[in-house]
Amino acid sequence: MIRFENISKQYKSDFHALKNINLHIKKGELIVLIGPSGSGKTTTMKMINRLIEPSAGKIYINGQDIHAQDPVLLRRNIGYVIQHIGLLPHMTIAENVGLVPRLQKRDPQSYLNRVHELLEMVHLDPKIYATRYPSELSGGQQQRVGVVRALAADPDIILMDEPFSALDPISREQLQDELLRLQETIHKTIVFVTHDIDEAIKIADRICLLNHGEIVQINTPEQILRHPANDFVRAFIGESRLNQVVNLPSLQEIMVKPIVSRPNRGLTEAIIIMQKQKVDSLLIVDKDNKLLGVAGVWEIHQHFQDESLTLADIMTLNVPTVNISESLADAIQLINQNKVAYLPVLNDQSELLGVITRASLVNFMAKHLETRSRQEGLA
Ligand SMILES: Nc1ncnc2c1ncn2[C@@H]1O[C@H](COP(=O)(O)OP(=O)(O)O)[C@@H](O)[C@H]1O
Ligand SMILES: [Mg+2]
Repeated sequence: MIRFENISKQYKSDFHALKNINLHIKKGELIVLIGPSGSGKTTTMKMINRLIEPSAGKIYINGQDIHAQDPVLLRRNIGYVIQHIGLLPHMTIAENVGLVPRLQKRDPQSYLNRVHELLEMVHLDPKIYATRYPSELSGGQQQRVGVVRALAADPDIILMDEPFSALDPISREQLQDELLRLQETIHKTIVFVTHDIDEAIKIADRICLLNHGEIVQINTPEQILRHPANDFVRAFIGESRLNQVVNLPSLQEIMVKPIVSRPNRGLTEAIIIMQKQKVDSLLIVDKDNKLLGVAGVWEIHQHFQDESLTLADIMTLNVPTVNISESLADAIQLINQNKVAYLPVLNDQSELLGVITRASLVNFMAKHLETRSRQEGLA
């Protein structure tokens, strides 16, 4: 849809704001340009509607070289939202939103209907807000009008340069949510600039990370979080977030206390422990806490008539186990391969440290999600 081919921008003889940018923005995607201040985000964006011309390279929209096009016509198909959206103060909200369609000499009734529809889409009741003036709206409401105004002429492309950066955190979250919801209906090609990584992760289909006028990494938020290209990306997305999202938890964090018994105990005792602890098998350990085997309820039931037997006689030997240093992925694979309900976790001395069960895994993940959403709620 939008293709940058070897784009450079030189402001002074020795300063390149952009260095050989190659970028393909797909139709209907929401791509976020992110990077530190001065990395070239705004310069990149403003080249799309020719507010800035490149020093070298070409930009194509739908295969057409935009430098061969009339900038005014080009901009009719490109909505533009900036941080302080600059609504015209002496015009009502409806007049502000209808400005571009009116310039395009569309049928007044049809664009008025459209303006009302758009205001409703961002939760501004047209009956209340259409006739108000910008100064009568909060910052968040004004930015909503800005988004709506960019949509009014129904452009294929929308450029948004830090549109929510001046808002308080709550309004900001709301507008991000609304943008995502809106995008599900309108499927525009959206280029969104931010310096806020959380915003980028939340809204982007793909993130394009810039530094010193170069693309450092471009990929989905998930892939960037999982596979940061280098230390700059790692630092930019924040080590703490990496640990939260990417590093799988250690087995230590997931395992639960095992229910154990000794090899010399009788079968009735075993049944009583199992009933009390609500488990269907016991891990049999010696006095040094080394795992000897597993006694399940079926084996116990099978041999229950024989009063002389102890757990040592009926336990299963050579059960699959996992070393504490192994990864969660290894553990899950072992559980699946061996079709077992749980996995004893051992240290290098074969001492039993805990068990990984399906339930412990589910509990851990649920707890993890709770803390994450709590952290996000506070941030
Ligand atoms: N008109 C200009 N003249 C000279 N330098 C500029 C001009 N516009 C931008 N720059 C420089 O180009 C670099 C990239 O700017 P910009 O694209 O606005 O960065 P960002 O939006 O990522 O903060 C910065 O170092 C900035 O100072
Ligand atoms: Mg900028």
